[in-house]
Amino acid sequence: MNIAVIGSGYVGLVAGACFAELGHDVILVDNDPAKYAALAAGACPIHEAHLPELLERHRGKRLSFADQMLAPVRASRAVFIAVGTPPTVEGEADLSYVELVARGIAAAVNEYKIVVGKSTVPVYTSEWVRRVMLLNGAPGDLFDVASNPEFLREGSAVLDFLYPDRIVIGANTLTATNLLREIYRPLVDGSYYRRPDAIAGPAGARIPPPFIATSTKAAELIKYASNAFLAMKISFINAVSTICESVGADVDQVRKGIGADTRIGSGFLHPGIGYGGSCFPKDLSAYRAVARECGYDFRLLEEVMRINDEQRQRFLRKVRGALWTLKGKRVGVLGLAFKGGTDDVRESPAIAIVEALRTEGCEIRAFDPAAAGRARDVLGDKGIAYVGSAYEAVQGADAVLLLTEWPEFRELDFARVRQAVHYPIVIDGRNLLDPETMRRHGFTYLSMGRPEVAPGGESAGTTAPVAAEARR
Ligand code: UGA
Repeated sequence: MNIAVIGSGYVGLVAGACFAELGHDVILVDNDPAKYAALAAGACPIHEAHLPELLERHRGKRLSFADQMLAPVRASRAVFIAVGTPPTVEGEADLSYVELVARGIAAAVNEYKIVVGKSTVPVYTSEWVRRVMLLNGAPGDLFDVASNPEFLREGSAVLDFLYPDRIVIGANTLTATNLLREIYRPLVDGSYYRRPDAIAGPAGARIPPPFIATSTKAAELIKYASNAFLAMKISFINAVSTICESVGADVDQVRKGIGADTRIGSGFLHPGIGYGGSCFPKDLSAYRAVARECGYDFRLLEEVMRINDEQRQRFLRKVRGALWTLKGKRVGVLGLAFKGGTDDVRESPAIAIVEALRTEGCEIRAFDPAAAGRARDVLGDKGIAYVGSAYEAVQGADAVLLLTEWPEFRELDFARVRQAVHYPIVIDGRNLLDPETMRRHGFTYLSMGRPEVAPGGESAGTTAPVAAEARR
């Protein structure tokens, strides 16, 4: 099928490349001249596993690029809207880009098309898109508007697209539902997974994925409610981890016990410095705003956000507890991205923590396997050295702070790290490292909701001043 995807951010670019992978002819449209030029020249603007391979495979064949939408929309049966919906100052989703695109599509409609929302949007957006298109002269019988929310995670976006837990289609007509089923047919009938050149899937992938057809409003709500629920799980375990610290229990044991209940599940129960990224923080505020507008005060979401903010403060208290005064102290920072596997630093808790430490006078040496460039764009160079390896970051450090769950940090040579640091203190904001390994290597090791360990002792427990301070 001929498909146009408007907007080539994370969602648009991944969706466009994956639609081409499923056998469709795709034109990716972006009106940002720099982005368009980079894509047309063969670059892959984001750090995303498998994406360079897919772009390479389909560029110039099933995948082409454009900086104007008129011709691509005319040439396509399906038009996906994947433009940004940034938060307004009130925390609502700013839908002005969506509206702009809807007007552009209306001007181009020449024969029947399905217009599909892929951006994360509030309930009623599909109806608004339809209304805007009608107001701008698109004949009502020549288009349907549908919602097809995306559940991809940065870092595993391509696999999430090709091996989804579910495909959700919100459409109010049979024609629209059938067209969308046709677009996803290679996944839904399993034929993609039998192809010898298919991208290999993750263990335990649901093959074929269920195809869930709903109304447009239900699909829009599924997206927000899913993200809110996942964020709630993270805040829940973070709150539990605070109690674990108070009573000296290990949150790892607690979360294993909770997660073994299949009704709860073990996913998204990893405590840490809180969730970040371009989705959860923005979507929670937007969902709360949507609920308020519908007459419901969704206070649970406010508490989820409050707990999330508190995690950063909790971590900073641990650093202060371990180092006493911060002015002039050197900290080695491991990780700046909002999570492992991505170069994205938007709403990254690591960035907020580094900023706070800099304000308190720390000298920072930071390493991230992918996100240093983007972090520097946000933080600048004052007081921060961006170095090329974890070992350089920890050199002479008064404390090592682990802020992003990059798996390679687990594989570090901790004997070498121990030699490099000034004080052997590691504060792990992601519970990535094994406490016993750290103790064996002679570190005082603090993490989130797990008993502190100190060299020579099983657990620093309540006796070490560092530990006692950290618990405040
Ligand atoms: C999230 C959702 O997981 C996707 O399903 C959704 O499609 C996407 O938002 C979106 O709306 O576009 P993403 O933001 O890429 O995906 O990242 P996640 O893997 O969900 O992680 C979000 C944050 O939560 C990260 O900062 C991560 O470190 C943190 N996290 C995650 C935890 O602190 N604990 C956990 O157990 C899991």
